[in-house]
Amino acid sequence: MTAVEIRKEGEVALVKIDNPPVNAAGYDVRVGLVNAIQDVTSDDAIKVIALFAAGRTFVAGADIREFGQPPKQPGLPEVCDLLEASAKPIVCVLHGTTLGGGLEIALSCQARVGIKGLKLGLPEVNLGLLPGAGGTQRLPRLVDGKTALTMITSGKPISAEAALDAGLLDDLQDGDPEAVALAAGQQVLDGTLKTRVTAEQDNRITADELNTFRVKAKGEVVTRALKAAEASSLPLVEGLQLERELFVEALASNAHKGLKHAFFAERAVAHIPEAKADARDLESGGVIGGGTMGSGIATAMLLAGMPVTLIEMEEDRVAFARETITKNLDGAVKRGKLTEGQRDAVLGMLTCTTDMAALADADVLIEAVFESMDVKREVFGKLDQVCKPGAVLATNTSYLDVDEIAATTSRPQDVIGLHFFSPAHVMRLLEVVVGKETTPEIVATSFRLAKKLRKIAVRSEVCDGFIGNRILAHYRKSSAYMQLDGAPFEQIDAALEGFGFAMGPFAVSDLAGQDIGWATRKRQAEFRPAEERYVEIADRVCEQGWFGRKSGKGFYSYDGKTRSVNPAVAEYAQAEREAKGIAPRSFTDAEIVDFYMAAMVSEAARVVEEKIALRPIDVDAVFLFGYGFPRHWGGPLQYADITGLDVLVQRIEEYAKEDPYYWQVPALLRELAEAGKSFNDLNKEG
Ligand code: 3HC
Ligand code: NAI
Repeated sequence: MTAVEIRKEGEVALVKIDNPPVNAAGYDVRVGLVNAIQDVTSDDAIKVIALFAAGRTFVAGADIREFGQPPKQPGLPEVCDLLEASAKPIVCVLHGTTLGGGLEIALSCQARVGIKGLKLGLPEVNLGLLPGAGGTQRLPRLVDGKTALTMITSGKPISAEAALDAGLLDDLQDGDPEAVALAAGQQVLDGTLKTRVTAEQDNRITADELNTFRVKAKGEVVTRALKAAEASSLPLVEGLQLERELFVEALASNAHKGLKHAFFAERAVAHIPEAKADARDLESGGVIGGGTMGSGIATAMLLAGMPVTLIEMEEDRVAFARETITKNLDGAVKRGKLTEGQRDAVLGMLTCTTDMAALADADVLIEAVFESMDVKREVFGKLDQVCKPGAVLATNTSYLDVDEIAATTSRPQDVIGLHFFSPAHVMRLLEVVVGKETTPEIVATSFRLAKKLRKIAVRSEVCDGFIGNRILAHYRKSSAYMQLDGAPFEQIDAALEGFGFAMGPFAVSDLAGQDIGWATRKRQAEFRPAEERYVEIADRVCEQGWFGRKSGKGFYSYDGKTRSVNPAVAEYAQAEREAKGIAPRSFTDAEIVDFYMAAMVSEAARVVEEKIALRPIDVDAVFLFGYGFPRHWGGPLQYADITGLDVLVQRIEEYAKEDPYYWQVPALLRELAEAGKSFNDLNKEG
């Protein structure tokens, strides 16, 4: 099969792009297009070219996998120039998601016909790039300045109808792309579909529009894209040249490396050993426990169209769960995700009761009761009695041993961990924790459930805290160490927010409630190794009843939406330093980020080394989609690759001089650094 095929129908040449799954404009497509144009140009019988694509979409962009590889000619800009210069008019028929390089191909043709349902966009900024095959120059020559600048800088697609209104499409049709292409070719022939050369149109961005967007532009990526768009006031050739230079600069940026990695992380995690196992049907769900998590999980299932039965202990808890779910759905109505009618229909699919027998027909059961092994054992014992054979029995535990929970049932092969993140109907991550007896079918079914709930599932083996919470438990200590050694907590928060986290670790503790961490620390006190440093500042805060936002005070004091530093925290820190004989030192923001990230990378490397995660990219996905990790860094292990593994080894060795217990170079990190390899090399090995 070739990536581009020609079929001639009278005076129309039908040129079909066929490069599954998304018709990315890789090398084969580009060569195919050049050959097709040459072939058709030399055929006197052909008067019009109709370009379209097979499969689910017209070209969804350049082939992202080629970025970072040595460029292969012809490049997409050359192909676009060739299309624009074609002596015979080209009408392009677009369907599916015509994005990035796909839209740039379309912009270079002489007419564009959309097929209903089409979305068109320039998502390059989401990859840290800018349109690099003429998009920033040709789009402003076809549509008004505001539409062009919005598409170029936001990366968001527009609907076919909006594109028709803006003049980006010349016509909108319904039907099969090939049939529409033939009809459109004939319309060009008989003059009912007008053609025009984009290069000959005037640029429509005004100086005022540019100023407005300049004021709004945040960050290097959008600023660079805007700079390219600004060049559309130049003659086309000069504008294209500047766009190319900026594109090459963007390709070399760390932001692009991180964002490209994040794009692939979202998709790579679906590649699991159990992918081909027979997934079971998932019509209905059961949730046990209707607190914070259970209500959120039930909401997620309802939003995916699944009838849900929720079990609580007592009638007032039943009523509370229903109320919480109703509020969650009201939120979805407010955000325009659901109409009021849909909310009422969805609520009609919810049963809340204290009677476990009501779970008998459910296909998947998710337990979200208190984080106590005894309570969970009891619940799973009952589930074993009431649930139908073949039902998935899942626990949403944050830390407990899934194998121990499974062992309380007569069907450990059907038991799995499904670890949602709060709020469960909003957060995209779902850790799928595979027990030693869990069958491949149950794993595959869990991934199917994630898809249904529009979540990103990441496979994890069993360990304390699984992938995410295990790593979190480790690196959280590093911020307390810096606080004790002299860094004000608000500086630590600000430095990490500057790195890209939405919130620093102290603000997060206040938000989540410090009581949970305090209880855990007290529980773990007797097992804490003597060599491990322990920081008491947070305990002092909790002893005052200051658990964070919910008590009006924690590390910060809260007054409505404003927060200020709680001055008592610095006093506790100073008192502890004096008691422990620590002379405070200052940290730069860069030192704070280096220290914190080295701690995160260390435990992340161990999680890969112990094969808790399938690949480094799975760890990255957990942090990107569950822990607010800055997307432009691509995840902790992509950050490690960008920083350099040898640099990280040196940093850890340096920190180990002060604290050799906490700072130990993970064997895998050292091994990769010594071999001159990266975590991404492990991703490629699979
Ligand atoms: N290049 C290479 N591979 C791509 C790709 C691309 N542009 N777009 C998607 N893929 C791959 C995915 O990695 C995935 O591979 P896998 O099955 O091996 O994991 C497969 O195609 C299917 O993708 P999805 O699972 O995402 O399929 P969906 O149907 O859910 O979504 C889509 C389709 C909306 C097109 C989505 O894939 C998407 O948004 N793709 C990226 C679009 C994009 O960013 N285009 C711009 C590229 S940059 C550019 O064009 C530069 C130019 O200006 C020079
Ligand atoms: P929660 O305390 O808000 O809710 C627990 C609910 O379970 C309560 O409503 C309680 O009445 C109910 N319950 C207790 N025993 C029950 C029983 N035998 N039958 C029926 N209902 C029972 O707790 P939360 O935060 O929702 O946590 C639940 C589970 O989810 C825990 O295992 C927790 O570790 C885990 N988790 C919590 C996250 C969070 O951010 N809160 C995130 C991810 C997982």
